[in-house]
Amino acid sequence: MTMALPKSFYLTTPIYYVNDAPHIGHAYTTVAGDVLTRWHRQKGENVWFLTGTDEHGEKVMNTAAANNVSPQEWCDRLVESAWKPVWKSLNIANDDFIRTTEERHEVRVGKFLQGLKDAGHIYLAKYEGPYCIGCEEFKLPGDLDDGKCVVHGKPVEMLSEENWFFKLSDFAPALIEHYTKHPEACEPASARNEVLAFLESGVKDLSISRSTFDWGIPVPWDTAQVIYVWFDALLNYATAIGLGDDASSDGGKKFAEFWPADVHLVGKDILRFHAVIWPAMLMAAGLPVPGKIFAHGWLLVGGEKMSKSKLTGIAPSDITDHFGVDAFRYYFLRAIPFGSDGSFSWEDMGARYTSELANDFGNLASRLIAMIEKYCDGAIPAVANDSGLSTMLEQTVKTADAAITALDFQGGINAIMEFCKRVNGYVTEKEPWAIAKDESRTAELNEVLYNTAESIRALAVLLHPIMPATTQTLWESLGAQETLGNIAEQKISDVARWGQLPAGSRVTKGAVLFPRLEEK
Ligand code: MSP
Repeated sequence: MTMALPKSFYLTTPIYYVNDAPHIGHAYTTVAGDVLTRWHRQKGENVWFLTGTDEHGEKVMNTAAANNVSPQEWCDRLVESAWKPVWKSLNIANDDFIRTTEERHEVRVGKFLQGLKDAGHIYLAKYEGPYCIGCEEFKLPGDLDDGKCVVHGKPVEMLSEENWFFKLSDFAPALIEHYTKHPEACEPASARNEVLAFLESGVKDLSISRSTFDWGIPVPWDTAQVIYVWFDALLNYATAIGLGDDASSDGGKKFAEFWPADVHLVGKDILRFHAVIWPAMLMAAGLPVPGKIFAHGWLLVGGEKMSKSKLTGIAPSDITDHFGVDAFRYYFLRAIPFGSDGSFSWEDMGARYTSELANDFGNLASRLIAMIEKYCDGAIPAVANDSGLSTMLEQTVKTADAAITALDFQGGINAIMEFCKRVNGYVTEKEPWAIAKDESRTAELNEVLYNTAESIRALAVLLHPIMPATTQTLWESLGAQETLGNIAEQKISDVARWGQLPAGSRVTKGAVLFPRLEEK
């Protein structure tokens, strides 16, 4: 008998411009990706989670020059001093980190482009028109306001170059058919509609090379030109897992295992690159297109998209220093429907921290541990059951799993926190502190404490992808590490199986999960 292989799940974030200082907008995407991939790992799937940095282009070259270092040195410095540390600090468990200046990427990009040329999808022509270095994008006259890029508010460059073009227009009909047949391939619906309207309005061919600077991957057959930075960057999703490698090599096997990507997470600002150009490139190469492009909304500050260029960028540490990493991971996914824009507010975050994390979740756990220490000598009492709690838990797991796998993080977290509220209600109704006063009611007291502990066991597992460090602390204080093994290995499909905490395992008072906030 052959064992079925676990389902693979490949998720990517955009590769961030290496030049930018990481801010909470970047962190929003990466945390969402981390939560989703941790969830899928706990579903027992074979997960690959990729992030990285976008390092070519005029903008990087210019800033390196302004800092008197070579572009490569500049990129190395930023990756090591800013990007890798920020993801580590936010507890991001990516499996790989791709940099577009790595040889593995450059070689595979060159090969891919040569393949498109050989297949007749590339031609030489003159490009004349506006270009925004901030967006690294060829603009249409309608994209400008008084000669300025509407995203960056800065004047665009006027280019007039002989460039290599990709026959993007050839793929518009196939893309329209693809999104019509597979609506789930571009979400939410508003993003899909935007893409379809764009495709139906007439798509032009795309210039995919530049000749006026050299910080990029050379066009293999015309080394006086470098490959347009977006064409180079989009390919990261495939080069990182071995695009074009021989099927029997490690890269070839990895590619067969994980391509096509299940989800490309992107902000809505870069939807068209991902939902139009990228799948067209893949179609041209005869490769399968990604399962889903999901465009989430923007974090707004003062009503505008937060960005470094507008000096509204907030570093994740500005928030985590005060609220902690897990509250940061929780808050943005809990407060903003994924796909909509949302304003960050210090007050709202403080209010949710106190009511949902410190009171509903943290206090519930610390009260339970304190009562087991006081009334049961620190040992989990005999296994009991409360059908109200166990039935609600089953429903909670179903709802949360359906929501989170559909990228409705808010819906999933809501369901879990509703269960947390119910458990609080259970404790309040049962009043174990009152039962404890009557020696004849010990069995009843033990049942209430067991049912509460078991509910908290389930909450820890369900919240682990969202708040890995806090739930690990809780897991240890429940004594579950010794008896049930690693929390990350607890399966979502098994969470609702009641009665897992074994009687007699020792609880210990751990660190306060969500300490009272200091006055700001
Ligand atoms: N380098 C390109 C992406 C290439 S992918 C092949 C790029 N980089 S970026 O540094 O500008 O980061 C873009 C991503 O960061 C957005 O798509 C979005 O996921 C995230 N965000 C940047 N600012 C954001 C907000 N203010 N709000 C939410 N997300 C934001 O574009």
